[in-house]
Amino acid sequence: MSKKIVFSGVQPSGGLTIGNYIGAIKNFVELQDEYDCYYSIVDMHAITVPQVPKDLRKNTLDVLALYIACGLDPEKSTLFIQSHVPAHAELTWVLNTITYMGQLNRMTQFKEKSRRSEENLNAGLFTYPVLMAADILLYQSDLVPVGEDQKQHLELARDLAERFNNRYSETFKVPEPLIKEQGARIMSLQNPEKKMSKSDENENAYILILDKPDTIKRKIKRAVTDSIGEIKYNDEQLGIKNLITIYSVFSGASIEEIENRYDGAGYGKFKEDLAQVVIEALRPIQERYEDLINNKDYLEKIYREGAEKASYVAYKTLRKVYRKVGFIQK
Ligand code: TYM
Repeated sequence: MSKKIVFSGVQPSGGLTIGNYIGAIKNFVELQDEYDCYYSIVDMHAITVPQVPKDLRKNTLDVLALYIACGLDPEKSTLFIQSHVPAHAELTWVLNTITYMGQLNRMTQFKEKSRRSEENLNAGLFTYPVLMAADILLYQSDLVPVGEDQKQHLELARDLAERFNNRYSETFKVPEPLIKEQGARIMSLQNPEKKMSKSDENENAYILILDKPDTIKRKIKRAVTDSIGEIKYNDEQLGIKNLITIYSVFSGASIEEIENRYDGAGYGKFKEDLAQVVIEALRPIQERYEDLINNKDYLEKIYREGAEKASYVAYKTLRKVYRKVGFIQK
């Protein structure tokens, strides 16, 4: 029996945070032995907000290097750059024609982003979830590992797959989201009611995978907590709850073990230890990243081979779609 298919992507729109790692990349790595995995660096998504071209190029290679540094093995998983497989844009056009404006209007991420960038309210930002659906559906994906914030987009992808199948006959697999219970929503260190995001204007709100030890210590030290003074995992203490989650993911200790270990301890001690846990967990990733980013030839080989493998699968689906909608074969 052939393996089930996994697809996911990360935008190269700046440094990746530990939220990206915990909510997505760490899970990508866990899936690669059992599934046939496609992991893309979605540069076409990134340009829905203004990018400096040379930074976008650098960030794209950075994400590829980080994918590998975090444990993705190009021998097992197909790693590729989205714009290298034009089928993504081509399928997006077809899917646009079966997507309702009302559906896109309801996307919470669009609503949030449009509030922030009123002057640059471009059509790409609006149809972005359709591009994401195309990404997923092109590979006949069974599973899509993502953080909680992508859930609504996944629902749209499922909906479009079903609508297309109903209108034109069975064509797409209807994908399932894979959202882990723990770590699906890592919160801002400055406001634990908000998601940790690399686009936060306060850099103390997030930790980047490539942050230096001193920076990590500083950011954790300044993380917002509360005046209760107990290290307990609960919704009255959202800051501490978030820090316990981060501790648990990076150390492998359970929530209960952590609560017991810090029973009676103060926030200062807990934060110091947490900083150490995060620093030690990121150290090997950072070291591998340094090696990889200086090896441009290797990275080029990986993304070229990845694009070739991805294209083969993507165009198989696209040809089917073109035939079903009534386009004449060239
Ligand atoms: P992006 O680039 O914003 O984030 C990449 C992945 O990281 C997850 N994530 C988080 N998880 C937990 N806590 C957080 N604070 C946190 N911040 C980010 C995201 O949920 C995501 O899984 N549209 C997508 C990229 C994309 C995609 C796709 C994903 C494009 N096409 C197809 C899956 C399938 C995005 O902007 O992710």
